[in-house]
Amino acid sequence: MKQSILVTGGAGFIGSHCCVELLDHNFNVIVLDNLSNSSIKVLDRIKKITGKELHFIQGDIRDKVLLDQVFTQHHIDAVIHFAGLKAVGESMQVPLTYFDNNISGSITLLQAMQQHRIGHLVFSSSATVYGENYPSPLHEDLPTAQPTNNYGYSKLAVEQILQATAKANDLWSFALLRYFNPIGAHQSGLIGEDPNGIPNNLLPYVTQTAMGKREVLSIYGHDYPTQDGTGVRDFIHVVDLAHAHVKALQYLFTHKPSVGIWNIGTGTGYSVLEVVKRFEQVNQLKLNYQFVERRAGDVAVCFADANKAKQDLGFVAEHNLDDMLRDVWHWQSQNPDGYA
Ligand code: NAD
Ligand code: UD1
Repeated sequence: MKQSILVTGGAGFIGSHCCVELLDHNFNVIVLDNLSNSSIKVLDRIKKITGKELHFIQGDIRDKVLLDQVFTQHHIDAVIHFAGLKAVGESMQVPLTYFDNNISGSITLLQAMQQHRIGHLVFSSSATVYGENYPSPLHEDLPTAQPTNNYGYSKLAVEQILQATAKANDLWSFALLRYFNPIGAHQSGLIGEDPNGIPNNLLPYVTQTAMGKREVLSIYGHDYPTQDGTGVRDFIHVVDLAHAHVKALQYLFTHKPSVGIWNIGTGTGYSVLEVVKRFEQVNQLKLNYQFVERRAGDVAVCFADANKAKQDLGFVAEHNLDDMLRDVWHWQSQNPDGYA
């Protein structure tokens, strides 16, 4: 019998790619999303890519009554939990909104899972939990650090809540996936990242500048102790990241660890300037960019030790930087206004 996965936040950037991957791997998919940062149009696109249906429920993970209905009406084997807010700057202005969505929302979800005796959950964490002070590559055994922003705090808090909850009884089996920098888009050009307003993250800013929507890309910092003075990150193709979730799910089903923590990156760092130059080369265009002051809160270098995910989950990222930059431009040029 097919296994059924509840995907919270499944209409979002990473969630939508994960739904494709799950359907391709023959899982039933039930998406719960309040569409606060995504479009209903994603669902048709997923169907077009996979030729398969998913079940969509528009609603909020903080809605206890709804969650009870979802778990009563659907047979669910595991949950992949993407739903949450993710804008670092905004999290400093409205901390309680972030804590409510990301922390209280996760607790409400766990309570409903407990009530319905569903113990498997994959959680979207972030490399941000390592803080600023460790040299890369970052290994899962490093102690986590106090995050510098409220978004990061909410991720660390949920990680800690999951670890404490798992100790209490053997119902639980949690995968904490610490994503590095997800970029790219599905090769079809049908789904991709569609940020609201002015993008904070590098790639959406790059593609919107290439489109002429933004005048100039500001590269934050040209004086880092890196090969060209710009920051270094571990960029991972969102399709690889989605695949890692299927691997993590399979691991939970077969090994049932109480808690497993895995970095999901490629293990290779590229500088911002390298990314910009490769983007120009791969897509045969010129990008208008300038160097400006460092951005507060940024680290010089951040990349993963990706060995644990390889050993335990058999996960290795398959797409290279050129693939990511080609696919993200394909998405943006096919959908100049995203899903609008
Ligand atoms: P996204 O905003 O595109 O997707 C999140 C989805 O969750 C959206 O569709 C949104 O409508 C939904 N949502 C938000 N709050 C909800 C709620 N209370 N109830 C129901 N639905 C809700 O973000 P993404 O980039 O796809 O990120 C997915 C997850 O991965 C998030 O938890 C994010 O913090 C985490 N993460 C993302 C990155 C990244 O670079 N994109 C890096 C590390 C971790
Ligand atoms: C950021 C968040 C991190 C979050 C992740 C995914 C911060 C400090 N960190 O990571 O918590 O998990 O996004 O949402 O916000 N850059 C430019 N110009 C731009 C944008 C970015 O030069 O217009 C540079 C940055 O300085 C950085 C690199 O590009 O060196 C990547 O930035 P970004 O895409 O924002 O990701 P992170 O900062 O790594």
